[in-house]
Amino acid sequence: MRTLIKGGTIVNADAITRADVLIDGEEIALIGLDLDVPADQVIDATGKWVIPGGIDGHTHMELPFGGTFAKDTFETGTRAAAFGGTTTIIDFAVQPRGGTFHQGLDAWHEKADGKACIDYGFHMIVSDMRDELLPEMDRLVEEGITDFKLFTAYPGVFLSDDAAIFKALRQTTKNGGLILMHAENGPVIDAVAADLVANGMTDPIGHGLARYPVFEGEATNRVIRLAKAAGAPVYFVHMSAADAVNELRRARDEGLPIYGETCPQYLFLSLEDLGNGFDGAKFVCSPPLRDIKGGHQEELWKALVSDDLQLIGTDHCPFDFHGQKEMGRGDFRKIPNGLPGVEERVDLMHDGGVVTGKLSPSRWVELVSTAPARMFGLPRKGSVAVGLDADVVVYDPNRRHVLSAQTHHMAVDYSCYEGRPVQGGADVVISRGKVIVDHGTWLGSAGHGKFLRREPRGFAEATRTKLAQPAPAVVG
Ligand code: URP
Ligand code: ZN
Ligand code: ZN
Repeated sequence: MRTLIKGGTIVNADAITRADVLIDGEEIALIGLDLDVPADQVIDATGKWVIPGGIDGHTHMELPFGGTFAKDTFETGTRAAAFGGTTTIIDFAVQPRGGTFHQGLDAWHEKADGKACIDYGFHMIVSDMRDELLPEMDRLVEEGITDFKLFTAYPGVFLSDDAAIFKALRQTTKNGGLILMHAENGPVIDAVAADLVANGMTDPIGHGLARYPVFEGEATNRVIRLAKAAGAPVYFVHMSAADAVNELRRARDEGLPIYGETCPQYLFLSLEDLGNGFDGAKFVCSPPLRDIKGGHQEELWKALVSDDLQLIGTDHCPFDFHGQKEMGRGDFRKIPNGLPGVEERVDLMHDGGVVTGKLSPSRWVELVSTAPARMFGLPRKGSVAVGLDADVVVYDPNRRHVLSAQTHHMAVDYSCYEGRPVQGGADVVISRGKVIVDHGTWLGSAGHGKFLRREPRGFAEATRTKLAQPAPAVVG
């Protein structure tokens, strides 16, 4: 099958070029001006941008959390992602507490294989970092699961102590993996939250009030220092607070290989959204949405522009308002944490970043596609270039539409952005050469998505050699 995309403007992270694109089978075969070559189908991209498919490096399909499961399955979530211009996700498999990484990995393959509509990889959530599992980390890296998420939050569920984090960091200096950190001081947050509930503050706003920005800053700084001591790079997921971004920037200015992502919710929503009685439960996620007056959004945008933050993930983790978020009526601590967003990321970042002039079109593409491909070891993705996978989106930078639960494809009963107009939308979405979305019509299928064995050669690999400190001897 040969598909010719004619008349568009290719927007890559490193260049913007007027050129046609020929796709042959699953790959991009040829790029050139006014290509006159035979093709089975021709897509008219006049006036449109031709961009690499979005890569969302942070999703949680069917995540078990707080006694329930995130609503999107791999089928519904990846289909929704595709409608929004995303052609690859990296989801978080979860090690069962007391179990092995491979048990978690097997469970995630069971959820995803034969069901995902777009390509997918896995990170590994470390629930229980026991010394005996350190060699298993090496095996996972060899098998293409190259990152491990550890937490300084959620005591009793996911929290790892400092020694465990240090050992995991040090292991990655041997195996080329990357530690992803959820950095918030969980035990202190739990103490503040208990005080709030004891004093009658049980509404969702309590979730935001208990999680001070400094608790994210403190945990971020602590992990940076542990990473420096271990001689390892580290990547901070879902950064939300100026306090944390300032720690990241300081470390990068020191020359340390420290990386970070933020998510659209921290750029476009705020603590105020949590404040509307129990309706605020729709906006409960961790770290929480931050006070608009705290200057957090400005710091996040600055860091996105300066490349102190390298990418945008969604942390897509949807729970229905009715029946799931409602589990926390009367006690905000029981509201499942997480927001939907996998479908809206590319458009929100275009509308709020490019249209407002904060980001160039190339930087937008870098944040939503090219940088995730590089960071997470996907050399066949993230760029419109000959020889790469034909994950391509014909994007209309002028189309206006309104975000709403009435029209979105995520399996969740509300939108965080209900009624928000946005400019920009994916007209045609191509996954490895197959048109899966054509002007709002679904042409994809469950099982089209392939599991991606990733390579441990992202940013972390490239920078590890530059570390000032050699890795100390390995214990355990
Ligand atoms: O609230 C969130 N972020 N839920 C998903 C789990 C996580 O910590 O990423
Ligand atoms: Zn997290
Ligand atoms: Zn997450």
